[in-house]
Amino acid sequence: MFKRECKGFVEKMMFNTSISVLLLLVFPAVISEVVDFSKCSEFFFEGKSPNITGMLVKSQSQNNQYKTICQKYKNAYRFATLYDTTNRIPVFSAYTVTVDKEIKRPENTWMNEPQLEVSSDEMGMPYENQATDEDFFNNSYSVNRGHLFPSCHSGDEVIAGSTFTYTNIVPQKISFNSGSWNRMEIETIKLMSVHCRDKKDNKVLAHVLTGAVLGKNKLKLKYRVTIPSFMWMTFCCYNNKSPFSKAYWAPNEDEKGDIRINEITLQELQENLIKNNTKVTELFYKHCT
Ligand SMILES: *[C@@H]1O[C@H](CO)[C@@H](O)[C@H](O)[C@H]1NC(C)=O
Ligand SMILES: *[C@@H]1O[C@H](CO)[C@@H](O)[C@H](O)[C@H]1NC(C)=O
Ligand SMILES: *[C@@H]1O[C@H](CO)[C@@H](O)[C@H](O)[C@H]1NC(C)=O
Repeated sequence: MFKRECKGFVEKMMFNTSISVLLLLVFPAVISEVVDFSKCSEFFFEGKSPNITGMLVKSQSQNNQYKTICQKYKNAYRFATLYDTTNRIPVFSAYTVTVDKEIKRPENTWMNEPQLEVSSDEMGMPYENQATDEDFFNNSYSVNRGHLFPSCHSGDEVIAGSTFTYTNIVPQKISFNSGSWNRMEIETIKLMSVHCRDKKDNKVLAHVLTGAVLGKNKLKLKYRVTIPSFMWMTFCCYNNKSPFSKAYWAPNEDEKGDIRINEITLQELQENLIKNNTKVTELFYKHCT
């Protein structure tokens, strides 16, 4: 009954230098909005974005390093991202899961966000504040482009297309991306479609936050993009009008075999984040209780 190909978006780093150079010349750009999150509050549980001391409070960035992006694509907001322009990876992406019908992985090119850059009319200006194809090319860390908002959790193909932006991407170990993380994505969308309902009209609705914790290494050969040490995911929704949440936490490491990511509580996730220097006060409104 339920078929959704989360494994479809495992990236294989097969492109060669000439393609990489070509992509840099004709690089597609997505025009999102670097505003505060109040314009796209629908992607947060009860319309409230997380509070993280020093990063994000009351939907406002607390430091120029962190940009609040309402991800606009084909004339509508599709999800929201808090982006770290120093480490050139997102802190988290926030999105809703609304349907359980099958969608195909779109044939999308990867997009960059021009509004993160100082405006310039110079031809071929490099992307200074975000990752690009070149950063991921021949990186020698056995990582590929890991979506925070995975295209397979999208409500339709246009939303799926919107996920292919570097502002939604972290360097993720290839075996982890296609292994336990992918199994967790498949498992959670099933859980959400069964248990999560909008209080108003009883349609499928869950609010998801997926994020990455900064590690010590940066992608070679340019040393611009930080490789996460851990990745996490949590969702909150209503189940029979009561708040319902799950949380997951996993190291961004190579793996072998059928590893499963254990569930933790929302409270434990917040504690892990605090230990790892992300000073979360709340991820979900009223801690989703
Ligand atoms: C990848 O990088 C290594 C150096 O780390 C270099 O020797 C090799 O030629 C590069 N491969 C390609 C295809 O550019
Ligand atoms: C990050 O959190 C994990 C899980 O709680 C913990 O094992 C690890 O030591 C933490 N890392 C740091 C740098 O505190
Ligand atoms: C963040 O803090 C503000 C101000 O204290 C509060 O109104 C809002 O509900 C908080 N967000 C969450 C997700 O709880």
